[in-house]
Amino acid sequence: MDAKPQLSRDGEGSPSRERHEALEAGSAGVSSGAVAAGITPAVETLNLRKSYGQQVAVAGLTLAVSPGEIFGFLGPNGAGKSTVVKMLMGLIFPSGGTARLLGRPIGDPAVKARIGFLPEHFRFHEWLQAGEFLEFHGSLYGMRPDRRRQRIAEVLALVGLTNRVKDRLHTFSKGMLQRIGVAQALLNDPEIVFLDEPTSALDPLGRREVRDLIRKLKAQGKTVFLNSHLLSEVEMVCDRVAILDHGRVVRHGLLRDLLGNGQEVELQIGNLTPALRQELSQRYGLLHADGATLTLAVAVREDIPAIAEIVIRGGGRLYGLTARRVSLEDLFVSVVEGGAE
Ligand SMILES: Nc1ncnc2c1ncn2[C@@H]1O[C@H](COP(=O)(O)OP(=O)(O)OP(=O)(O)O)[C@@H](O)[C@H]1O
Ligand SMILES: [Mg+2]
Repeated sequence: MDAKPQLSRDGEGSPSRERHEALEAGSAGVSSGAVAAGITPAVETLNLRKSYGQQVAVAGLTLAVSPGEIFGFLGPNGAGKSTVVKMLMGLIFPSGGTARLLGRPIGDPAVKARIGFLPEHFRFHEWLQAGEFLEFHGSLYGMRPDRRRQRIAEVLALVGLTNRVKDRLHTFSKGMLQRIGVAQALLNDPEIVFLDEPTSALDPLGRREVRDLIRKLKAQGKTVFLNSHLLSEVEMVCDRVAILDHGRVVRHGLLRDLLGNGQEVELQIGNLTPALRQELSQRYGLLHADGATLTLAVAVREDIPAIAEIVIRGGGRLYGLTARRVSLEDLFVSVVEGGAE
């Protein structure tokens, strides 16, 4: 199921020969078709590494994100997601490897103006009014006053905080702070926006708004690099994902390829004899068993009525049969070893 890494052809500023060698040397390559077609990636890393003393946070990451893609960067707590983004933002130095944004080396000032970033622990100048806070960030981006005014109005409207422009940030709720953080990340109308857990504090309505916002950004041709734990949300918006565990990519690919047509069927069976149970698990993958409840993996839809027949033929009483598509959560749980250390 794991898509093979694809090599990028020579694009402007693309270290494709090094990439080729690194991929041949066996490092995890995460790349998209468009990148293979020679388009300069929006984000590209080559064997990127970060250690803190003995602790390896990122263990040789090679990935490429195409322009216009919504890329989901997933992994359990401590997997290294934020460390990667911080390196890309030039906030911490890699211990090894290289990275490029929009074809330019990280830290290039010309690129900084073209990217937006919502850090995971965003610190706010709480005494500032929302409008003043955005003014401040707009001036950090080097935006001219008239452009700043226009964009502040636009981003406040985008995150639904227009009527809070004069309120001080210390009066904001957690979710409102997260919204203003997203507004800040979009202020300079960036080509790539990095969002590190943008919806963790939001209510369901707020999450949906951010999801819609991400879709809007995609429609405008922007690239979104999304770190998130909220797998159901990632499933709804991302084109491609990489799952990181202990600083390494353990699975990557287009969501539709990763999840494919795989389905699972949960059965509640009365009079479940050992023979019936064995027959079902031999014919279909047994994903989970809990007393009289079995979860089986099925490859094609026709397996579903066939399973019902086997149960009845085997003397079982079928109290429930629920078929569902394999979710990103199922995939995540199956490829990730454990949580935080
Ligand atoms: N400044 C630091 N000093 C030492 N170790 C660090 C530092 N920052 C991160 N780490 C370690 O690097 C590893 C990766 O951390 P990181 O914050 O990148 O994980 P994450 O995937 O973003 O996790 P989460 O989902 O909890 O946000 C962890 O083991 C963490 O303890
Ligand atoms: Mg993090």
